Amino acid sequence: MKRRTFLSAAAAAGAAGRPARAVRMGVIGVGGRGTGLLSVLLTMEGVEIPALCDIDQAKVERAQARVEKSGRAKPEGYTRGEEDFRRLLGRSDLDAVLIATPWNWHTPMAVAAMRAGKYAAVEVPAALTFEECWQLVDTHEATGAPCMMLENWSFRRDNLAVLNMIRQGLFGEIVHCHCAHSHDCVDHWFFDPQGNMRWSADFLVKRNADQYPTHSLGPVISWMDIGCGDTFAYLTATATRSLGINAHLRRKFGPQHPNAARKYAQGDIVTSVVKTVKGNSIVINYDMQLPRPYDNRWMIQGTLGLYSEAQPAVYITGTSPKYHEWEPFAPYQEKYEHAWWKELRTRASEISHGGTDYLELQEFLRAVREKRQTPIDVYDSVMMSVITPLSEASIAKGSAPVACPDFTRGKWKTRKPVFGVV
Ligand SMILES: NC(=O)c1ccc[n+]([C@@H]2O[C@H](COP(=O)([O-])OP(=O)(O)OC[C@H]3O[C@@H](n4cnc5c(N)ncnc54)[C@H](O)[C@@H]3O)[C@@H](O)[C@H]2O)c1
Repeated sequence: MKRRTFLSAAAAAGAAGRPARAVRMGVIGVGGRGTGLLSVLLTMEGVEIPALCDIDQAKVERAQARVEKSGRAKPEGYTRGEEDFRRLLGRSDLDAVLIATPWNWHTPMAVAAMRAGKYAAVEVPAALTFEECWQLVDTHEATGAPCMMLENWSFRRDNLAVLNMIRQGLFGEIVHCHCAHSHDCVDHWFFDPQGNMRWSADFLVKRNADQYPTHSLGPVISWMDIGCGDTFAYLTATATRSLGINAHLRRKFGPQHPNAARKYAQGDIVTSVVKTVKGNSIVINYDMQLPRPYDNRWMIQGTLGLYSEAQPAVYITGTSPKYHEWEPFAPYQEKYEHAWWKELRTRASEISHGGTDYLELQEFLRAVREKRQTPIDVYDSVMMSVITPLSEASIAKGSAPVACPDFTRGKWKTRKPVFGVV
C-alpha cells in the first residue's frame, strides 16, 4: 500500500460512520513477554486475536488455549519455522501485529508488517543497527503504516506526571538528564537455570554496547523533546571491563562450566553521554550483569530545579519550602497526574491487569481504532534504539564522539510534541 492511501483510506472509512469494530491483532512470538502482553490484551474489550505465530508449537498451543479460555475463537497457529510469520502477515483480516520475538527479528518483522499494510507494535529495541533504523523509517515513509516500539516505561505513572511538570515549566528550561537500566538479567534472562545461553546471551558474546537503552531513554525522549524541537547531535560511550557474567556463572556453576570460561565482549557498565543539537546532555547507563536491585535513576534538571526518581523528590527554587532541600515527589505525582492515568485509575481492574502495560496497549489500540499515528511513532522508536549502534561505534573508537543520523531528515525542527498530548 502507498503512503497516500494508508491513513486517508482508513480515515474515509471512519468518516463514513462505520460502527467501531474490534481491533484484530496477530501476535508473533508468544514466549515470556508475548504471553504476558497477550494476557493483558485478553482482559480488554474490542480486541480479537485471529492468529498467533511462534517457532515453538507448544507455546502457540498454550497461547491458543489462553485465547479460547477468554471466550474468544481459537486463533490460527503459524508454527512452520522462522519465516512463517510472513504467512500470518498475508492474512487480510488483521489490523495490527504485536511482535515479541528475539531482538534480531524485530526490524525484519516490523518492516514486513508495515509492507503488508498493518500497524506494527514491536518489542524493545526496535532496531539493532543504523541500517535497521533507516529501514524502519524508510518503510514507514513509503507505506504510511505506523510502527510503535512498545517502550512501556514511557507510560509509567511517575514518568508521565514528570512530563506534565516539564511541559508546565516547573523546572524551567531543561538542560540535563540522567537515566539508567540497572537490572541484573544474567541470573534469569540471558542464561537459563542450568547456565545455558538463551538467545539474548549471544549478543553479550558478540557486542560491546548499550544493548538495552530503551527502558532508560523512553521517557527522556518526550521529556527533552527529542525529534520535536531538539535531536541528538553526537554520543560518546565508555564501557568497563567484562567481569560480571563470568563471576556469576563461576559462583553458580563452578569454573568448569563452559559458559563460565567463555569470553564475553560486553562490558559490565556502559556510560553513554549524548549531546543534543540544542546543547543539552543526557547520561545513559547500561548495567545488566552485576548483582543488584532494579533501578532507573531518572533525573531531569532545568534552570528552576530538578526531579530525582531515586529519592524520589523534587527541588524547585522559589517553591520548595526549604533552601536546597528535597521535597517529596508524591504530592506532585497527585497534582500533575497525567490524563491517561486519571482515566485508568477510575478502573481499578485495569490497573490490576497490568497498569503500565495496559495503558501502553490501550493507547496503541486506540490509534489503530481511530486510524491515527501511534503515541510512540517510528522516529521515537529509532531514536530510543539508535543508542546501541552509536555506543558500539564510540566504544570501538576509544570513546570517540559518533554523530547521530537525523532520521527525521530535518523534520525535528518543526515537528510538535505528540506523545502524551491529550
Ligand atoms: N518491555 C518489557 O518490559 C520487556 C520485558 C521482557 C522482554 N521484552 C522484550 O520482548 C522480547 C521477547 O523477550 P522474551 O523474554 O519474551 O523472550 P522469549 O525467548 O521468552 O520469547 C521469544 C519467543 O519468540 C519465539 N521466536 C523466535 N524466533 C521466532 C520467529 N522467527 N518467528 C516466530 N517466533 C519466534 C521463541 O520461540 C520464543 O517463544 C525481547 O525483545 C525482549 O527484549 C520486553
